[in-house]
Amino acid sequence: MKYYIITYGCQMNEADSSLMASLLDRAGWQEVESAAGADLIVLNTCSVRERPEHKVYSTLGELRAWKQSNPDALLAVAGCMAQRAGEEIRRRAPHVDIVLGTRWFHHIHDLVARVRAGDGPLVVSEMEEDPSAARTGNDLAADRAPLRAFVPVIRGCSNFCSYCIVPLVRGPESSRPAEDIICEVKALVGRGTREVTLLGQNVLAYGRDLPGGATFPDLLRALDPIPDLWRIRFTTCHPRDVTDELVSAMAELPSVCEHIHLPIQAGEDKLLHDMNRGYTIAQYRTTVDRLRAGVPGLALTTDIMVGFPGETEEQFEESLRLYRCIGFDAAFTFAYSPRPGTAAGEREDEVPQDTRLARLRKLIDLQNGITLSRNKAGVGEEAEVLVDGPAHRGEGLLAGRARNNKQVIVAGDQRLAGSLVRVKLAEPHLWGFRGHLDE
Ligand code: SAH
Ligand code: SF4
Ligand code: F3S
Repeated sequence: MKYYIITYGCQMNEADSSLMASLLDRAGWQEVESAAGADLIVLNTCSVRERPEHKVYSTLGELRAWKQSNPDALLAVAGCMAQRAGEEIRRRAPHVDIVLGTRWFHHIHDLVARVRAGDGPLVVSEMEEDPSAARTGNDLAADRAPLRAFVPVIRGCSNFCSYCIVPLVRGPESSRPAEDIICEVKALVGRGTREVTLLGQNVLAYGRDLPGGATFPDLLRALDPIPDLWRIRFTTCHPRDVTDELVSAMAELPSVCEHIHLPIQAGEDKLLHDMNRGYTIAQYRTTVDRLRAGVPGLALTTDIMVGFPGETEEQFEESLRLYRCIGFDAAFTFAYSPRPGTAAGEREDEVPQDTRLARLRKLIDLQNGITLSRNKAGVGEEAEVLVDGPAHRGEGLLAGRARNNKQVIVAGDQRLAGSLVRVKLAEPHLWGFRGHLDE
């Protein structure tokens, strides 16, 4: 039996997809890279903005023909949109056999078996914590041990930023026991993984919900000594949760990379307040100063949203001035998209869509200039690069990442894939650098 998984959304969804794949593999299924010939298709979905949701409905529409010509094949919808709109999905796409919410992905195989036995269609999206969910991953994750692996350490989010659907679809914060994470990382490294990215919607909240008071920096300290684990990354960080302990762990631990993704969202206090972000611009800047002072060579990236309800031209311009001052190495930029059930989704002072898009364009232009000038400043430096493999950009080229997470492309022997090399950074680009191997 063959399965095909299509993943939308964030790295947590990628990690969940990979776990579903391992579960199916263990049950004797085989992964394929297209719908043709698949006996099961799983869409792992995202609800964070309207657009990824539309995309899912259009993909479901396209899969109607596939389903008609493969009546015994199964179609499953998992992830955040399945959690938010399970019944609606079944109504709009009755050819969907299984809808499984965010706390159910690890039951994929049982649910498939039930539907195959005639017990379908099924919609399972209860939010209650299934005690087995937190432990899912331990030995499974190592079945697929990529060079760079994602390791969920805390699921859910309890922050309730006013625009955000994540707490509604992912439930409250729930940390995995540290010993499970350590065991999983050791297993991954034993099978060839050399870099892990510790994942959480709010990764710095790690441990708050666990007995014993372990913190995220404690987790970093526990993972750092694992032999042959070269690099540790983590994402995403809420600015309010950056502590001195985090800064010193980043500074002291050799495997922890010099990069932090610290979403700012807006650059003006009233907007931040209305977004329920829990910090002011002054506090954000102090946090950045502490990080930059404590962690030499740190790359700082962020998420920025424009067109939040009520955002005035002045607030937008003030935000741009701030972004110019801070100088992010890169930013993911978004136009606000109202989400059902969120506090901001109820607001009536929406910014018109064309204004949102015009502001987004302006922000992207500004940030592109900043990104390029920050990369220009890096030219001539030496970087340690972990080589992923052949670059998509041309024959004989290798692609990898510097410790600060910037992409580096060099000419070199394909056998360097999976190793650490020293590179002299040469041409700056928006996406990173072209460089030369240091012999
Ligand atoms: N947990 C992460 C964010 C996850 S969502 C964090 O707090 O940093 C990723 C990004 O999507 C957010 O940082 C935000 O910039 C954007 N986003 C979230 N909700 C959105 C909405 N309703 N409209 C537009 N962008 C949104
Ligand atoms: Fe959403 Fe805020 Fe939680 Fe991030 S911290 S997932 S933006 S509620
Ligand atoms: Fe999207 Fe869910 Fe991730 S809403 S961003 S897939 S947590």
